[in-house]
Amino acid sequence: MSHASQPLSSHKANSIKGELAVPGDKSISHRALMLGGMAIGKTTIRGLLEGEDVLNTAKALSQMGVQSGTNADGSWWVQGVGVGGLLEPDNVLDLGNSGTSTRLLMGLVGSYGFTTFFTGDDSLRKRPMARVTIPLQQMGVGFHGRSAGRLPLAVIGTSSPIPITYSLPVASAQVKSAVLLCGLNTAGITTVIEPTPTRDHTETMLEHFGAKITYAKNKEGKNVIHLHGQPELVAKDIDVPADPSSAAFPVAAALITPGSNLLVKNVCINPLRAGFYDTVREMGGDVVYENERMQAGEKVADIRVKHSALKGVHVPASRAASMIDEYPVLSVLAAFASGTTTMDGLSELRVKESDRLAMIASGLSACSVEHEIKGETLIVNGNGQAPKGGANIATAMDHRIAMSFLVMGLASEQPVNIDDGSFINTSFPNFVGLMNNLGASIR
Ligand code: S3P
Repeated sequence: MSHASQPLSSHKANSIKGELAVPGDKSISHRALMLGGMAIGKTTIRGLLEGEDVLNTAKALSQMGVQSGTNADGSWWVQGVGVGGLLEPDNVLDLGNSGTSTRLLMGLVGSYGFTTFFTGDDSLRKRPMARVTIPLQQMGVGFHGRSAGRLPLAVIGTSSPIPITYSLPVASAQVKSAVLLCGLNTAGITTVIEPTPTRDHTETMLEHFGAKITYAKNKEGKNVIHLHGQPELVAKDIDVPADPSSAAFPVAAALITPGSNLLVKNVCINPLRAGFYDTVREMGGDVVYENERMQAGEKVADIRVKHSALKGVHVPASRAASMIDEYPVLSVLAAFASGTTTMDGLSELRVKESDRLAMIASGLSACSVEHEIKGETLIVNGNGQAPKGGANIATAMDHRIAMSFLVMGLASEQPVNIDDGSFINTSFPNFVGLMNNLGASIR
C-alpha cells in the first residue's frame, strides 16, 4: 500500500477538555476477526477498530474464504468457516504496516496443507519473523523468506502439524499467539511457556469461542498455557473495548497541558496492558479509573485524567510487557517531569514499526530534551519545565512515534512538526480531529 506523506504540526493548546471515545483495541480487533473466522456461524463484532492494520487482517482473511462486512448499525459481521476451513489464497497477502496481522496469520495458516505468501510495506519488510518461524518449524511448517525470515515470505503449511511445547525466548504476545493459532488446527495439546506474562487476549477470546485452554505454573513460576487442539468454535458476539495504547495519547496530552480535565470512555484496562497507567500514577499523574466493569472477558473502565505536575520515576524491566507500545509517549511525559525517568528492559523497542529506541532518542534530541540510552535502558532528564520543542521529527512509518511527538507539541514552548502523519491511520483513525475537538491544535 502506498501512502502520500502527510506532514503535521502541533501547537500549544490551552487545555484538553471533554469526553472522548477512542477507537477499539487493535489487538482484540485482529483476534476477533481471526477467531470469528474460525468459528462456525456468524459472529457480530461491535466496536471493531477500523484502522488500516485491522482492515488488512479482514482482507487477508477474505482471501482465504472468511467473508466479513459491516451491518447497518456499524458493527461488523464475520462468517466463520470453522477450524480447518481456510482456503488457499490465490494471491499474496499484503499486510501493509501490521506485524500483528502477519505474525498471527503466519501461525494460523501453518496448520493447513497449502502455501501462503506474505508481504508488507517498507517498515514491515524490515521486521524479524524468525521469532515466529522457529517454533512453527518445530510444528512441521516450512518457510521461504529473506534473511532473518523477513518478508516477502512463503509459509508452506502442513496438513499433519505436530503439537509442541514451546518456551518463548522473548516476551511476545505475537509469538505466543502464532503458536496457539497454529495449534488450533493441530490434533493434541499445544503448549506455550512465557518468560513473563504478556497480553492474553488470544487465550481469553479462544475460551470465549469455546476452546479448551488449561493454565499452570512450572517450577520456575512461569505461565504454562495448554491449548486443546481442533476444538469446535461457535460464533459469539464480541464488544471490543477502546484501546488503552491509543488512549495513552490523549491521556498524556491532558497530563502535560495546564487546565486539562478529560474523560476517556470504555477503555480496556486488562492488567497485562495497563502498565502505562500504573506508571503515570507513580509519576504523580491524576489518573483515575471510574465505573470499572467486565466486557467479553476483558476489564474495562472510563479513565479520568487531569493536568498534573509529574516527577521522574524508575520503570522496571518487569513492567515492559504491560506497556510495550507506550514507551514513546511515556518518554514525552518524562521530558515534562521533574527529575530523571529510567526505563529498563527496552530491547524489544528496536524491532517495532521502527527502531523506536532510536526514533525516541532522535525526537527528544530535536526537542532539546536531555536523555541517554545505555544498553536496553532509556534515561530521560526533565526539569519540570516545558521542553523547547520547535523541531522537525522523522517518524519512520511509525504511528506511535508520530502521535507521541504531536502530543509533545501541545505543551512544548514551540510547535513540533512531524514529517508524516499518514501512518496514524493504522491504529487511530481521526486522531487529529478527535484531539482538536478536545482543544488541541494539530494541523
Ligand atoms: C501485540 C503484541 C505486541 C505489541 C503489538 C501488538 C499483539 O507485540 O507491541 O503492538 O496484538 O499481540 P510483541 O508481541 O512483538 O511484543
